[in-house]
Amino acid sequence: MEKKRLGIIGLGRLGFEHASNIHHNIHEAELTAVCSVVEKELETAKEHFNPEIITKNYRDLFDTEKLDGIVIATNSQTHCEIICAAVEAGVKNIYTEKPLGLSMDEIVKIKETVESAEGLIFQVGYNHRFDKNLMEAKQKIDDGFIGKPILIRMESRDQAGIEEFIVKFSPTSGGFIADMMTHDYDTARWFTGSEADTIYGVGGVYAYEGLKACNDMDNTSILMKFKNGVMVILTASRNSAYGYHAPMEIFGTEGSIKVGDFSYNTKNHYMNKDGINRKCSEWFYEYWQDTYKAEMADFVACVCEKREPKVNYLDGFKAVEWAILADKAVKNGEIVKLD
Ligand SMILES: NC(=O)c1ccc[n+]([C@@H]2O[C@H](COP(=O)([O-])OP(=O)(O)OC[C@H]3O[C@@H](n4cnc5c(N)ncnc54)[C@H](O)[C@@H]3O)[C@@H](O)[C@H]2O)c1
Repeated sequence: MEKKRLGIIGLGRLGFEHASNIHHNIHEAELTAVCSVVEKELETAKEHFNPEIITKNYRDLFDTEKLDGIVIATNSQTHCEIICAAVEAGVKNIYTEKPLGLSMDEIVKIKETVESAEGLIFQVGYNHRFDKNLMEAKQKIDDGFIGKPILIRMESRDQAGIEEFIVKFSPTSGGFIADMMTHDYDTARWFTGSEADTIYGVGGVYAYEGLKACNDMDNTSILMKFKNGVMVILTASRNSAYGYHAPMEIFGTEGSIKVGDFSYNTKNHYMNKDGINRKCSEWFYEYWQDTYKAEMADFVACVCEKREPKVNYLDGFKAVEWAILADKAVKNGEIVKLD
């Protein structure tokens, strides 16, 4: 079978990871084109992957004679423009990083554009859905292992960073409640198999004072009730002193499942007079690394087999919609009821 020729738009932190996976790890695809507005990134990509097309203009990747599909890994505020332009230009296979967009207007526009296209394969980058442990836990729940699910608790703690960078990133990220917690809304929807009914939350600035000027936060707790009655508690932090940490518990009438209680980056324990020490994962790339490869491999498989991706535009739409409502709930101290 001929390899699927893919182009990538965005070669930053995550774009380079995707480019590398396509080039090195996915045998059914080849990295034919790369695009970035940063010259240095294009030079590095040429050195590592030697692709046929190297460009600063993302529209050069819409040529369906030369490419079978594209991967969008640009900054979040460009997703809507690039997705809509690609679909309108007739691109048939699109993977886009999360979030789909940053406002209701943007995600409604994307939904309408995607729904109007025929034969479009469109995957959104909720990579946690490709985590082996989460997949196994979800299967156990579906098999009835914990009886009727009652409560899901999820924590997302990012390793503490440099305040200057965190404050600079805030205005283009969509804000903490949208950017940092976006995977959690999606995982909650996947695990409950239901839609949100009510959202409430609290939060604030506890670590990075500069975020106040951006009307943003660094620690939040969101409480949701789903239409099937399941309660979900999501807590998130941008300043975990000990590293990245993302444990989860699903508690039901017959038992409980815990996923990733601690996030170790080693099997070694170091013991001395101070006790036992074991290092945590330093950041989310390390913790979720395998899922980036798995989601891209599945996207390529969807293109080859012409099947619907595991995470589609509607999943992407819901995660952004709930983030916007959660943000409103926390900032206005409201209980938001969904229609
Ligand atoms: N799924 C995950 O775990 C995860 C993790 C990190 C980031 N992300 C998402 O990935 C996306 C990229 O994040 P990042 O941290 O890699 O960003 P980054 O700032 O490191 O890189 C952004 C890239 O986009 C390119 N770009 C921006 N505007 C462009 C345009 N108009 N045309 C062509 N290229 C353009 C830049 O040249 C750069 O290569 C974001 O949407 C982010 O939310 C997802």
